[in-house]
Amino acid sequence: MGSFNWVCLIFILQFLCPVSIFSDSFLSSNGLSEIPTKFLNFAKNQVVYDWMVGIRRKIHENPELCYEEFETSELIRAELDKMGIAYKHPVAVTGVVGFIGTGRPPFVAVRADMDALAIQEMVEWEHKSKRPGKMHACGHDAHVTMLLGAAKILKEHEEELKGTVVLVFQPAEEGGGGAGKILEAGILENVSAIFGLHVAHNLPVGVVASRPGSLLAGSGFFEAVISGKGGHAAIPQHSVDPILAASNVIVSLQHLVSREADPLDSQVVTVAKFQGGGAFNVIPDSVTIGGTFRAFSKETLMQLRQRIEQVITGQAAVQRCNATVNFHEKDKPYYPPTINDEDLHEHFQKVAGDMLGMHKVNNMQPLMGSEDFSFYQEVIPGYFFMLGMENKTLGPFDSVHSPYFRVNEEALPYGAALHASLAARYLLKFQQEAPLIEEKYHDEL
Ligand SMILES: *[C@@H]1O[C@H](CO)[C@@H](O)[C@H](O)[C@H]1NC(C)=O
Ligand SMILES: *[C@@H]1O[C@H](CO)[C@@H](O)[C@H](O)[C@H]1NC(C)=O
Ligand SMILES: *[C@@H]1O[C@H](CO)[C@@H](O)[C@H](O)[C@H]1NC(C)=O
Repeated sequence: MGSFNWVCLIFILQFLCPVSIFSDSFLSSNGLSEIPTKFLNFAKNQVVYDWMVGIRRKIHENPELCYEEFETSELIRAELDKMGIAYKHPVAVTGVVGFIGTGRPPFVAVRADMDALAIQEMVEWEHKSKRPGKMHACGHDAHVTMLLGAAKILKEHEEELKGTVVLVFQPAEEGGGGAGKILEAGILENVSAIFGLHVAHNLPVGVVASRPGSLLAGSGFFEAVISGKGGHAAIPQHSVDPILAASNVIVSLQHLVSREADPLDSQVVTVAKFQGGGAFNVIPDSVTIGGTFRAFSKETLMQLRQRIEQVITGQAAVQRCNATVNFHEKDKPYYPPTINDEDLHEHFQKVAGDMLGMHKVNNMQPLMGSEDFSFYQEVIPGYFFMLGMENKTLGPFDSVHSPYFRVNEEALPYGAALHASLAARYLLKFQQEAPLIEEKYHDEL
């Protein structure tokens, strides 16, 4: 159908249907600020809500670990097929990348992580994990569902999108660096902005929180084997005691943050693993220690890495032991810090404020946790935020990575609608600002 016919049709309809039809258009007078509430109402519709709850429970019952998300991937593709949404698969082993809109630039991406954790679920309920030792204890089942919910909303309004929304269903967030693999696939090459969220057990439903700039820390892991010479515990002079050496190493590692770090530049070094010895009367041959380090810049992270290695080998030598340090870069790659783009922060505040009211859009303090969404932010302006799911009448909600972790499904419509509104409004904004950018470019020439 040619554009002339469209204009004609709209002209006629405008007379016949004074308000109702056009209040559904982005382009009506107040359309922009109404998009978020309209999308939320859509997602709260009982049919849509029940559909989302069903998907979330199905994924919850069948958790899959890093790069093993084959059934989750299949479920996502089946839902996209039903909605008539085109996608690419496989991307990064099990990942799925969908496309809604014009198929042309600008491209805006929305991301959900798919993997579960190696935890035995302790919550007794009808849809408990059916896989022993595996559990969606970080809410990724809800994240996938919210992105499918957003897909449904956006597909409904596809004609009005001013560009293309890229749906990123990403594997292996929990230590596998799935985001890096998605980027390597090149599929996000022309994307101008990316959004991601995480459910939060300690924020009420309908409340969101984030901040511009540094939000989450970058992280790395280390493991060291400290070798001495085993022997009889009653004859220490014939042994080289790795337990004492490891103990000194651990104490020295604590001085990296307390004595070498700028007190205003938050950092963490934690030794979380200490294994050695098995008897009361035997000095063991070796001890293995391991832990994590966190910082808000890549330089600080690399500096910590260097000093951790020096302290472990140097301090072990003081006690006549040898040490080897392994940073497991292959299977536990460094996560960069999660740093939110300032312009996207403004965009987020406007969109979330229009949906929830500004009093429910909180600023939060940075956290030392990390998230592989940061890989995207190294190459694409990105924004990550927390989505509340606490409801006091439903009892306390445990924190992520707990075997008692529960998702409050009341949060699903909020996540779906926020994803959809952030993307749709971004494309409209881009379209409005593009002529200005072009003009500026012209002036510079
Ligand atoms: C990105 O844009 C360039 C230039 O238009 C095009 O050649 C390339 O195929 C695009 N990449 C993707 C992944 O769409
Ligand atoms: C440490 O390494 C050196 C060189 O390989 C070796 O001679 C020495 O015996 C080792 N010491 C211990 C306690 O393992
Ligand atoms: C909290 O849970 C109660 C009981 O299920 C429900 O009636 C109420 O609407 C919920 N509140 C929110 C904000 O979802």
